[in-house]
Amino acid sequence: MSAHVIVETRERVTRIELNRPDKKNALSPDMYAALAQALEGADADAQVRAVLIHGQTGCFTSGNDVKDFLELPRGPADSPASGFLCAIAAAKKPIVAAVGGPAVGVGTTMLLHFDLIYAAPNARFQLPFVPLGLVPEAASSLLLPMIAGYQRAAELLLLGRPFTAERALAAGIVTEIVPEAELLSRAREAALALAALPPASVRMTKELMKRGLAQAVRDRMQEELGLFGERLRSPEAKEALSAFMEKRRPDFSRFS
Ligand code: COA
Repeated sequence: MSAHVIVETRERVTRIELNRPDKKNALSPDMYAALAQALEGADADAQVRAVLIHGQTGCFTSGNDVKDFLELPRGPADSPASGFLCAIAAAKKPIVAAVGGPAVGVGTTMLLHFDLIYAAPNARFQLPFVPLGLVPEAASSLLLPMIAGYQRAAELLLLGRPFTAERALAAGIVTEIVPEAELLSRAREAALALAALPPASVRMTKELMKRGLAQAVRDRMQEELGLFGERLRSPEAKEALSAFMEKRRPDFSRFS
């Protein structure tokens, strides 16, 4: 388990806290592995009825650790990151998220698999795969156009700019915007409400809603992961990722 992921189960809710605030909760391989283990553990534990995922009210997560992208460019096809993506796609019990501050990359795409998403007004979502020379992951190239409509998804995925909680709500990514001070309590209250419902009925309803897409999601995730691995080794991605680490603007003018 990772020191940067806190997991505790109380009142039939497994709470998972991303806890690496000095790096804006950037996700390392250890953190992905801990997250996958926590989700699989919640599914396997008959006492658990719902999962709650959150960071701090000022930061959900800045997504994959950019340093790891540069240093581990083998690609995520057989990595802890892909294990985490499989776990969120396969999760049987409902997942509630509380999102405040940055929710970048997988910080946004993971939400497309969750069930109830509460966002604070300070939440800033971003899908910067194209600006980083990469391609979308977590089946977001399939799920976002379905959830948000093609044009809205195209803007968010092609331009890759940050967007507000209001825009995430309009795009269907977020369930409700709640004041920052109430974010965690509102999300916990929803998780407890789910935990108090007939558990088999909750699980079956989630499975029925996701059944039609489950295979397509798995297939798209694998296709994206293959391309993502290729793109990670591309000169475009190297330029974009190095520019982030060196705190400078990337220059793509030499690429065709
Ligand atoms: N990977 C590695 N380190 C990261 C990181 C990430 N994804 N996100 C932030 N950090 C680090 C910064 O390098 C900085 O480290 P330092 O203090 O050693 O210089 C620290 O976390 C604080 O980040 P900073 O950028 O100063 O905070 P901010 O509040 O100005 O901006 C973000 C927050 C999340 C908007 C910004 O950090 C960001 O865009 N991060 C990159 C997100 C990204 O591209 N993720 C990959 C998606 S595929």
